[in-house]
Amino acid sequence: MADASPLFTPTRLGDIPLANRVVMAPMTRSRAPQGVPTALNAEYYAQRASAGLIITEGTSPTPEGRGYTHIPGLYSPAQIEGWRGVAKAVHARGGRIVAQIMHTGRIAHPDNMDGARVVGPSAIAASGQMFTAAGPQDHPVPHALTEAEIEATIEGYAQAARNAVAAGLDGIEVHGANGYLPNQFLAPSANGRTDRWGGSAANRARFLLAVLDASIAAIGAGRVGLRVSPGNPFNDIADPALEETYTELFAELGRRDFAYLHLFGTDPGFDVPALAARLSGKKLILNGGYDRARAEGELAAGRAQAISFGSAFIANPDLPERLRRGAALATPDRATFYGGDARGYTDYPALPAARAA
Ligand SMILES: Cc1cc2nc3c(=O)[nH]c(=O)nc-3n(C[C@H](O)[C@H](O)[C@H](O)COP(=O)(O)O)c2cc1C
Repeated sequence: MADASPLFTPTRLGDIPLANRVVMAPMTRSRAPQGVPTALNAEYYAQRASAGLIITEGTSPTPEGRGYTHIPGLYSPAQIEGWRGVAKAVHARGGRIVAQIMHTGRIAHPDNMDGARVVGPSAIAASGQMFTAAGPQDHPVPHALTEAEIEATIEGYAQAARNAVAAGLDGIEVHGANGYLPNQFLAPSANGRTDRWGGSAANRARFLLAVLDASIAAIGAGRVGLRVSPGNPFNDIADPALEETYTELFAELGRRDFAYLHLFGTDPGFDVPALAARLSGKKLILNGGYDRARAEGELAAGRAQAISFGSAFIANPDLPERLRRGAALATPDRATFYGGDARGYTDYPALPAARAA
């Protein structure tokens, strides 16, 4: 009998066809030494290829954007080769996969970066500490990017997008969320610039939009998605005029064509999905604490095109099938989220195949 749930109907995001609406959210797992994806990474993603779309872990466009240890990049030939192996393995199982392009900006530490600088919109350190080989250390004061360096960074994103497609991936997602570089430009708590890259909401949105436009110019609108997280304070992000900032940003997004907008749901005190829904024809992926019933509710109400699931995919490689069957979900082990080997990564089993009735 056909399953009437809207979660298991096919759809399309830009040029990318999805077999179902269960998307795997991007998750850093810190298992790519020197930033190069390995056969183990390929196995991990291939195990999860039944997702309608896999969005990879945050992947740096440039050496300066790789602020955590063992996260992947998409700027060197070896990294591109590594991603080719991942794309092949996922496609062999019928899946689709886009790379999340994440520049960590000021959320970085020199100890993690093979000599690359820690950079940001302004010389304002994020509060808090980050993981390094020597233990947790304070975030450093970043080098404030010059205008020429900003332009070079934007070109870095465009080249990473081209590299993603060259590696056989289905596209990219610009990571504009969770306090990384584009979000640092958006937020007054990280951006004190007085040139055209800071100050007004339009100026603070300029970097994110320039990255989006450069990515679209590089590989085509149908292969580029964008993630934002209005109101998420993660990584010391604060904005006293949040609604104004995102109203401006979304107005600009409404003038552009791209594959999808991926919203990490927090409640910033205004209705973000309603604001996003005004973007003409834009496809929405919603994320954050969803289960099957809530996900189906959003899809049935026409509030989203797909729903992404994060932590549930860590311990449930066959998440779409488990949701379809109403099977119990395994609980992921937080101790093995970041770093390490196959343990807590590729050793979560799928359910035994359903017996023929
Ligand atoms: C281990 C882990 C790593 C994550 N890494 C990223 C990342 O690289 N990029 C990103 O945009 N979000 C990242 N997130 C956030 C998830 O994409 C997602 O927004 C979050 O887990 C909430 O969705 P959920 O309730 O379905 O888990 C990460 C989450 C987890 C648990």
